[in-house]
Amino acid sequence: MTPAAPNGEKNFKRYTVTSALPYANGPVHIGHLAGVYVPADIYARYLRSRGEDVVFIGGSDEHGVPITIKARKEGITPQDVVDKYHTMIKDSFEKFGISFDVYSRTSAPIHHETASAFFKKLNQSGKLSEKETEQFYDEANKQFLADRYITGTCPHCSFEKAYGDQCENCGTSLSPTDLINPKSVLSGNNPVMRKTRHWYLPLQDYEPMLRQWILEGHKHDWKSNVYGQCKSWIDQGLQPRAVTRDLDWGVKVPVEGAEGKVLYVWFDAPIGYISATREWAEATGNNWEPYWKDKESKLVHFIGKDNIVFHCIIFPSMLHAEGSYILPENVPANEFLNLEGDKISTSRNWAVWLHEYLEEFPGQQDVLRYVLCAAAPETKDNDFTWKDFQARNNSELLAIFGNFVNRTLVLTQKYFDGKVPGRNELTDYDKEVLEQMKRFPGSIAKSLESYRFREALNELMNLARLGNKYLTDNEPWKIFKQDPERVKTILNINLQICASLAVLSEPFLPFTSDKLFKMLSLDNLLWDRAGESDLLNAGHQIAEPHLLFEKIEDEKIQQQVDKLINTRKANEEEENSKVEDFNEDISYEDFMKMDLRVATIMAAEKVAKTKKLLKLTLETGLGQRTVVSGIAEYYKPEDIIGKQVVLLANLTPKNIKGIESHGMILMASGNNGELSFVQPDKMVANGGIIS
Ligand code: 2FM
Ligand code: ZN
Repeated sequence: MTPAAPNGEKNFKRYTVTSALPYANGPVHIGHLAGVYVPADIYARYLRSRGEDVVFIGGSDEHGVPITIKARKEGITPQDVVDKYHTMIKDSFEKFGISFDVYSRTSAPIHHETASAFFKKLNQSGKLSEKETEQFYDEANKQFLADRYITGTCPHCSFEKAYGDQCENCGTSLSPTDLINPKSVLSGNNPVMRKTRHWYLPLQDYEPMLRQWILEGHKHDWKSNVYGQCKSWIDQGLQPRAVTRDLDWGVKVPVEGAEGKVLYVWFDAPIGYISATREWAEATGNNWEPYWKDKESKLVHFIGKDNIVFHCIIFPSMLHAEGSYILPENVPANEFLNLEGDKISTSRNWAVWLHEYLEEFPGQQDVLRYVLCAAAPETKDNDFTWKDFQARNNSELLAIFGNFVNRTLVLTQKYFDGKVPGRNELTDYDKEVLEQMKRFPGSIAKSLESYRFREALNELMNLARLGNKYLTDNEPWKIFKQDPERVKTILNINLQICASLAVLSEPFLPFTSDKLFKMLSLDNLLWDRAGESDLLNAGHQIAEPHLLFEKIEDEKIQQQVDKLINTRKANEEEENSKVEDFNEDISYEDFMKMDLRVATIMAAEKVAKTKKLLKLTLETGLGQRTVVSGIAEYYKPEDIIGKQVVLLANLTPKNIKGIESHGMILMASGNNGELSFVQPDKMVANGGIIS
């Protein structure tokens, strides 16, 4: 059955729903669930409930440098790393009811074959260019260094552990050659430059297509965060992107003479969606191609905001270049979820891990699904707190949904031995409630089809609220003795609402919906039946009621909060015990090359659209100059006017965010990376030499 789309939008024959393939180098946490897998699962379940033909794709992203780094650190092979985490991640998703039709992995032979064939087709049809460049090479280890294998000092903020692709202190994206004193992570040596050949996807060729498809075609239906990022990428001008790397872990470049080279992980990973669809099709006797090639298929990618450029610019350019594929209709990317006010971080263990939650809250997967959907970072970053988790369970799921269902079923057992009573004459209130029920399948669907999952969930709860209020207003327990006929009508209407709730809650709370269907002795029903007033016929026998939700006590929440407090303490202790090693010796002459001067800050302002940067005007004794400094997190512009600082005056000028920066301010870095000015302890004339 293909019901009409409730929004009156285009009808599709089938749906291909993908969810970002998580890296198999660590377990998954609530951030993954809230940002990608809960919304994707709700969407896929909803479509199935509408009777649509849908394939919901998941899998592990098993290539990429972080996996090889982890393997090296732990003294195991990359395959060992991905085997361990693939199994763990898959298990967590299954237990949370993420209803993938297939959960594949990019180390699978079918993926290597698919990605390899995709590359070959692009290469053979002249869609890739080859270029020789110079790249950092570690002579001791005899290998080229991926960006993440190079660290050095950030030219913008002087952070000493910046990576070759990004400084995690000031957030600037870098290339390895930007780093001051670059070092190989493998040997600790300074790498040398060596020539290497790579294949490039000329993204600039796809600019007209991307402009027309996204900027003109999806201005109104894509989320503004997604559209905005795409526009800014396209407007900045697209460059050729290397799609191969010198590495030995990944899909081998299928060209003779390309030994030691693999496809770039971001080239092969999205092709993983196609490989997974093929795997599913082979296992189920389906044809995978229409799901990717028929214009009547709707392709939707669920991802987090850090993946936008890959799914909206690069992968679509690859698909378009290949020529036979459709492009995504939508890419509903979410923002990030924080935990108790802090960024979720694997390395700092600042996360709620799904495998731990499953042990600590057995049988309560729907509670977390509910909370993560209700507080999903749909339009801005959002915060998960254990207090909110408790409140949403106790005063929403339990007090509204659970309480309504339980009272209805218990009263039906008590007064009518669990047989659905028939309706008698209807009051205006009864008619109004039956009328209102009808709107829910449509209104929830409308929100879901616009990817507004929080709104959809709230609307589902409005149905439970409607039932709860109707039951409380009518107080059947007070009138049963004198008017059992009236009670029959009230309970019948409540039972119909329970049946609608069972249908409409399924995408959001699949375990609860399943229990409710069982308690109602009802088979699963399709979405559009919800809202009908005779889902349960008079005389139908329902089963024993059980509670759908349990109260979560303060102690249980405190345990979780304590766990985080301990993590924070452990992190602080570790930070405090870290003192950086001294650098290699340098000569006096080298030191004297630096022209260090005393200067005074005359003016300071924040650099627009950055979090960390201040634009400073300094009096140097030889005139004023502008320096951009990554200190905005530690100093307010108005507090530093008149301060004397030390300026490295002869650093080559650099353009930072459109501002020409002439030099660098010396900063001392505290245990937690916090920065403070290095200053003379008495006033010194500007221009004073430091030696
Ligand atoms: O950011 C990530 O976790 C990536 N592993 C997502 C890949 S999505 C897709 F392209 F496979
Ligand atoms: Zn930096």
